[in-house]
Parts: sequence; C-alpha cells; structure tokens
Amino acid sequence: MHIATHDLAHRFADTDILFEHLNIVVHPGQTVAVCGPSGCGKSTLLSILAGWEQPYAGTVERDGVERIGWVFQNPYGVAERSALDHVVFPLLTKGMSRRDAEGQALDMMEVFDLRYAADRRFSELSGGEAQRLMLARAVCSKPDVLLVDEPTAQLDTRTARSVSHVLGRLAGQGMMVMIATHDPDTRDACQRVVDLSEYAPLATGSDRDDAERPHDEMSRPDGGAAGTAEVGAAR
Ligand SMILES: Nc1ncnc2c1ncn2[C@@H]1O[C@H](COP(=O)(O)OP(=O)(O)OP(=O)(O)O)[C@@H](O)[C@H]1O
Ligand SMILES: [Mg+2]
Repeated sequence: MHIATHDLAHRFADTDILFEHLNIVVHPGQTVAVCGPSGCGKSTLLSILAGWEQPYAGTVERDGVERIGWVFQNPYGVAERSALDHVVFPLLTKGMSRRDAEGQALDMMEVFDLRYAADRRFSELSGGEAQRLMLARAVCSKPDVLLVDEPTAQLDTRTARSVSHVLGRLAGQGMMVMIATHDPDTRDACQRVVDLSEYAPLATGSDRDDAERPHDEMSRPDGGAAGTAEVGAAR
C-alpha cells in the first residue's frame, strides 16, 4: 500500500503555479511533514491527495488505500452537540452499536487527553480542544491515510508535542500520516519533510533536484474539521 504523486503540479484559475514536479511516495508507518510559507499550497496539496481537488497537472496514485481520514485547518462542529457525539457519529454511520461506538470514542478521546471534555458542548470547547477532538474523530475510523492540516497551531508546546507523539505512534501502527505544519517541533517529530517551497516554479539549482530523483523518498538521516471517506467516495 502507498500513496504517491507523479509529477504533480497545481495552480488555481487565478493563481500562479503553486508547486510543480512534485514526486513523493509515502508508505504505511511513515509520518511526513508538509512545510513551506503561508500560501505555498500545503492545504491544497492535502486536498489533492484526498481527491477533493483535481490537480492542474500530474497524478495521485492511492495504491491499496481504502480509507482516507482528514482533519481540516479550522475545526468545525455542531455547537449544541457534545464532544463525544462528534466522535461517535461517524462510527454509528458505519453500523456500530451506540454502546460500542461510545466505548471506542471515549478510548480515542483519552488518547488525545480529551476524556474530561466528553460531555461538553462543541461550542464550549477551546480551540485546541476542538482541534484534538477532530483528530480523535478522524483516527477513530482507522483510516489508511491521515491528512492533517496544522494540528498543533492552537496548542501549547507541551500539548503539541503530545499530539505529535500520538500521531507518530499511530503511524507506527501502520497508518500513513501527512501533516501540513508551520510548527518546527511538529516538523521535527516527523520522519520526513516535504518543503513545498522547493517545488515552487522559481526554485532552481540545489533547491530542486527532483529531475534526478523521480521518486524522492526524502528520508531524513535521523530517520492535525475531520472525517474519513472511502477512496471511491471522495469528492
Ligand atoms: N479554491 C481556491 N481558489 C483560488 N485560490 C485558492 C483556492 N484555495 C486556495 N487558493 C489560493 O492558493 C494558495 C495556496 O493556498 P493554501 O491554502 O494551499 O496555502 P497554505 O500553504 O495551506 O497556507 P497557510 O500556511 O496559510 O495555511 C493561496 O494563495 C490561496 O489563496
Ligand atoms: Mg493551509
């Protein structure tokens, strides 16, 4: 199983080319940080990988991938519903009994240190709590690939490290985890880094030697709204 991009490039109708000649392969067990300055296309790349956005050029290969989970940059939920309901709901839609779904949801909320907030309404959650709730919700459905957009942007350093650690542990259980992030700690916690600024059209020379590395694994020597969808059902 893997997810790969083949000579991927993207621009919107009213933007210049954001990135081009992007060739990456991600395997189960890997955590990949997608970095680069604001507006370089990190969130857009995640949307393309999920299948919601069609790339301007190139292709995405999702070999053997059946479920993709995502956590958006801005958490969203139903103000009046409890935090627990937000994690339980996707499990109910998969046919799980309420009792099993609540048990699984509470376990996952514990993993993200959110058990204490299970009965709070979504509108009462802090930004960081809402973000962790979205992670618990996405991970509960056991996706093959987890795409997470700025999961630690609203978290203090200690909580951010804890979330990075949990994501690394989930990858260790066989998930592919891709995280768009500005946070150096989160980036450093990932096994690999894709710096999208190296794939901007003006990047040249040593900045971009992908022509010689058609499938750059980019291994390092020291080698987080949310949901899941079946790949076939992705927009
Ligand atoms: N649907 C769209 N139509 C037109 N332009 C868009 C669309 N979505 C994003 N853009 C533009 O494409 C560029 C890349 O956006 P994107 O959200 O991917 O950046 P980003 O790297 O995630 O930035 P940030 O770090 O601020 O989250 C931005 O200039 C943005 O305004
Ligand atoms: Mg973004």
